[in-house]
Amino acid sequence: MPEKNRSVYIETLGCQMNVADSERAAGVLRAAAFDLVKSADEADVVILNTCSVRARAEAKVFDRIGEIRHRRNGAQPLIGVMGCVAQLEGEALFQKRNSIGFVAGTRAADRLPDLVNRALGGESRVMDLAERLPGEKWNVGVEHRTSGKTAFVPIIEGCNKFCSYCIVPYSRGREKSRPASEIIREIAGLKTQGYEEVYLIGQNVNSYRPNVIDGLEEVAGATPFAKLLRAVARTGMGRIKFTTSFPRDFHTDIVSALDEHENLCNWVHLPVQSGSDRVLRAMRRGYRIADYMQRVAWIKGARQRLALTSDIIIGYPGETSEDFQQTMELVERCQYDGLYIFKYSERKGTPAAKQFDDVSKEEKASRFARLEELQRSIQTKIYRSYIGSMVEVLVEGASARRADELSGHTTCNKIINFSTEGVEAASLIGKPMPVVVTEAKRNSLYGRIAV
Ligand code: 5AD
Ligand code: SF4
Repeated sequence: MPEKNRSVYIETLGCQMNVADSERAAGVLRAAAFDLVKSADEADVVILNTCSVRARAEAKVFDRIGEIRHRRNGAQPLIGVMGCVAQLEGEALFQKRNSIGFVAGTRAADRLPDLVNRALGGESRVMDLAERLPGEKWNVGVEHRTSGKTAFVPIIEGCNKFCSYCIVPYSRGREKSRPASEIIREIAGLKTQGYEEVYLIGQNVNSYRPNVIDGLEEVAGATPFAKLLRAVARTGMGRIKFTTSFPRDFHTDIVSALDEHENLCNWVHLPVQSGSDRVLRAMRRGYRIADYMQRVAWIKGARQRLALTSDIIIGYPGETSEDFQQTMELVERCQYDGLYIFKYSERKGTPAAKQFDDVSKEEKASRFARLEELQRSIQTKIYRSYIGSMVEVLVEGASARRADELSGHTTCNKIINFSTEGVEAASLIGKPMPVVVTEAKRNSLYGRIAV
């Protein structure tokens, strides 16, 4: 009799790149005759795909291992750690928790079946922190995609920017762009499988620079990323969004591409990190506020209104109240549709960690609250301005609040919940729908279907 397949549960912490890596890991494990399950309680193998961007994210790995082990009455699962914490900590993880059976770095997803089999076979401290193998394709089976309608498509991995505070260049290695022909083929395939939306992802998507320009020869554009956007738009995919854009590499031609193609979403995420030139220099961001504002002017000058969102770190070492005031002024000028605010978190091994983290906890909390309050008032104004207008929504499912209400994102990436006015809700899921906005909430819109 054939042996029963071993079951694997993968839990993803962190960014979209980790979600994409977990999808890929699920695909290769399934192909190697593992069964993928949806709970850690019943799995033979539990894999935690981890994030290390801030201390709190990193601590979560150990909390989760404790919780998972605590919930199991009978046999304990084999526990593996993959992703950024795995890449950075390596060997040390085995010392920190002896329940960890294997460690797989950020480029080891394709080799997981071998690692898991070795660990299941009794080998201890199995570890792979190596690069991706030449010729590895980023194939994800449709059954392993997190959503049936929006597909994550990585276009570039890693980061060369080495911002002083950031661990990502160490955890994810140097920038590596996927060949354009492969990306375009994948997206054309997703369209035939019924996908309505793709999400092009990378630490810095607009730093996209493939080794060979294949598939983009005939496409107009001043940069490879603008060319790629146009080529992807031409596949006829319903909606295309992308994140994250790096300010220094943000070319005006990206806005031209968004102007030209209806199916490119009306949204740019452009992290500024600070409103002070002095702090930006210390962060080694490679641009000044004037450069950033030039990009904002391009974005605000687009043919259609483009939503603009950003990330800001408060309490960077040496950030004075004057620096912070400049950040407040910048946020006022930019009128962001959304803002992610982070308290500076010291990451071992980064240049900033050598500087004294001199902004007190109380001061960080106070700056955080003031910035959050300012953003809230800006956002309320922006969200209210949508009332009465019609937006196109890709319907994702029932809203969190009520089963007869649906939820989705607009083309400017805002969450909207809406009533279906008697139309059978299930039949609309996965489709783009016109919705009239009737109310604005703090972080979402509310409306009714316009049919
Ligand atoms: N501390 C706080 N926030 C950080 N980010 C990156 N590194 C750190 C850190 N050490 C934030 C940046 C980045 C976002 C993904 O996380 O704002 O844009
Ligand atoms: Fe980190 Fe800077 Fe790279 Fe973004 S651009 S991932 S903040 S090093």
